[in-house]
Amino acid sequence: MTATPESAAAAPPGSTENVPTDRLRNDRYADVWRRSIEDPEAFWLETADLVEWTTKPTSAIEITDGSHWRWFPGGELNTSVNCLDRHVRAGRGDAPAVIYDSAMTGTKKQLTYAELLDRVARFAGALRDAGVEAGDRVVIYLPMIPEAIVAMLACARIGAIHSVVFGGFAASELAVRLRDATPKVVVTASGGLEPGRTVEYLPIVARALELGGASVETVFVTNRPLVPGSAADYADHEIRFIDWTDAEAAAEPADPMPVASEHPAYILYTSGTTGNPKGIVRDTGGHAVALTRSMSKIYGIEAGDVWWSASDVGWVVGHSYIVYGPLLAGATTIIYEGKPVGTPDAGAFWRIVEEYGVKALFTAPTAVRAVRREDPALTHLGRYDISSLEALFLAGERLDPETYHWANDGIHCPVIDHWWQTETGWPICVNPRGIELLPAKPGSTSVPCPGVDLRVLDASGADVTDPGTEGNLALTLPLPPGYLLGVWGDESRFRDAYLKAFPGYYATGDSGYVDEDGFVFVMGRTDDVINVAGHRLSTGSLEEVLTLHDAVAEAAVVGVADAIKGQRAVGFVTLKHGHERDPAVLRDELVALVREHIGPVAAFREVHVLAKLPKTRSGKVLRKTIRQIFDGEDYLVPATIEDPAAIHALVAIAPR
Ligand code: COA
Ligand code: AMP
Repeated sequence: MTATPESAAAAPPGSTENVPTDRLRNDRYADVWRRSIEDPEAFWLETADLVEWTTKPTSAIEITDGSHWRWFPGGELNTSVNCLDRHVRAGRGDAPAVIYDSAMTGTKKQLTYAELLDRVARFAGALRDAGVEAGDRVVIYLPMIPEAIVAMLACARIGAIHSVVFGGFAASELAVRLRDATPKVVVTASGGLEPGRTVEYLPIVARALELGGASVETVFVTNRPLVPGSAADYADHEIRFIDWTDAEAAAEPADPMPVASEHPAYILYTSGTTGNPKGIVRDTGGHAVALTRSMSKIYGIEAGDVWWSASDVGWVVGHSYIVYGPLLAGATTIIYEGKPVGTPDAGAFWRIVEEYGVKALFTAPTAVRAVRREDPALTHLGRYDISSLEALFLAGERLDPETYHWANDGIHCPVIDHWWQTETGWPICVNPRGIELLPAKPGSTSVPCPGVDLRVLDASGADVTDPGTEGNLALTLPLPPGYLLGVWGDESRFRDAYLKAFPGYYATGDSGYVDEDGFVFVMGRTDDVINVAGHRLSTGSLEEVLTLHDAVAEAAVVGVADAIKGQRAVGFVTLKHGHERDPAVLRDELVALVREHIGPVAAFREVHVLAKLPKTRSGKVLRKTIRQIFDGEDYLVPATIEDPAAIHALVAIAPR
């Protein structure tokens, strides 16, 4: 069925006491949504005025064929100008752009817009001195420090395409991305800090360069306190390692280079169903327009407001809402190095909100569940004044109603679940707080964003018309501005992965339903992708790693329910004849293998040895049945089961 925002609008108005009335501007969500769908050309061309163009586009969209479109053709702009120069020119140079708060080192630092512009322009100059030109790729492998923002915006300043890799990935995952993106430059640090351990990046980078760094000419290294390692340690390396501070000091500030609207702003890799991650390509113009609009119309954030996205720059949430969105809007963004719990306690989030006057906070449900486990009565909240907080936005995984109620009742501000993906770069569905806060429905991500035409399709691609009936969630083409334009280096992969299943639609890979009021419920993935602590992982790539072990004959990985992380990956293996092992030793070896090949982010800790994997007679592993058994759900054993004993063995070891 089609999501019907008209019915959502007919619902009684929600609690809007936290939404300043001038922001409502008499707009109703349903009117705005209808306008965006009926006349996207006019809607988005008008919205394009929110950004500063060197050449203004005269039309919003150009569709070349079913799988190709360009937003704002003919338009030229520079994103770093929109994030920095225009605010400085407007007299806001002294306003804080970035607040850095590291719970790991105790460091607290602010950069004004003028200071950030200066650093970005200089580092852009350093990149240019290293031979980086518009269109060249730069891989950024950095922890949560202000340099991550500087590096990303420096790329934008000279039209380079960045690809940020999350610090929790191992050398081989970094290498896969280096091979695919073929960067000229890697930007990194001596390392990151995790509770109880330091993560030295330079040995990881050196190994990744060996495995996949053929294109790399220069590595910039910023030194971190507490983590050993510097560019000087690699003075004899065949690739040039340069100290960031020296390079930035020596460089002339680079002028911004305007690029075409469709010029790729960045590539961000995400897990697909195979072991090979997909490089999602974001354009420049559509991205800048959509994110600028989203700050006020979705998040209710304007210039001067303090905004905090407690994610990581390595994820899409970090790209859009630690870096680009808040700076495009002229707001203050917080970059926080720490965890919601244990650094030092479950009051960490509330401390930051009080200390900086945070107006809206964005994090993942898993972080809220972690706080809840440590501090179910929210006693830490009583130590802080969080009255500045107007909304808590959650995304990245399903927000279970229980967690929703706990947070909504305890924190005394609206908790807003919203749904999006690396591919979309900004939300698909949300309670549009910046337009009109609709009455929330726990378990629902509310209504489609303006620009999004969402359908529920059955397996044959037909519209599911009954409210409440689950199906494949799909979006009509063309996708709104800022959503992906393609997959890096592989035109066919974009079509095959997203457009082939339902011609004329983008298949989100999620299933769900729309209720009688037009509210969307996202229930889970339809593919082999799992979601661990808001991080997307491919079970296929985990299985590939497990079978690298010389004792393992076959492997299946499923995502089972986890009280904190939403899901956790559990492995099931069979052993080769003559390779019997102590299960505990084997488990440790397999866990180490996953850490080595994928990284600690997989949080892989559980493996079961089976005599046989449950399969159909045609050899298909019954992953869904395995998951259902482990999750204690009802399950159906297909008549085509190869050996029912395999199911009995699973039932015997499943948690009760
Ligand atoms: N660099 C290196 N290692 C990292 C890392 C990084 N940037 N981020 C996480 N890791 C490591 C952790 O140290 C941990 O290692 P360990 O197995 O040695 O303990 C492992 O990866 C798993 O990390 P994580 O999933 O973060 O689990 P956790 O138990 O340390 O913390 C939460 C649990 C809920 C507190 C944490 O997952 C969290 O804050 N999640 C928020 C999720 C988020 O921001 N998602 C983005 C989408 S909005
Ligand atoms: P990622 O690309 O890593 O951000 O993961 C995107 C996937 O996370 C989506 O396809 C969904 O499966 C899931 N997801 C994200 N946000 C939500 C949400 N609010 N509710 C349910 N699932 C979500």
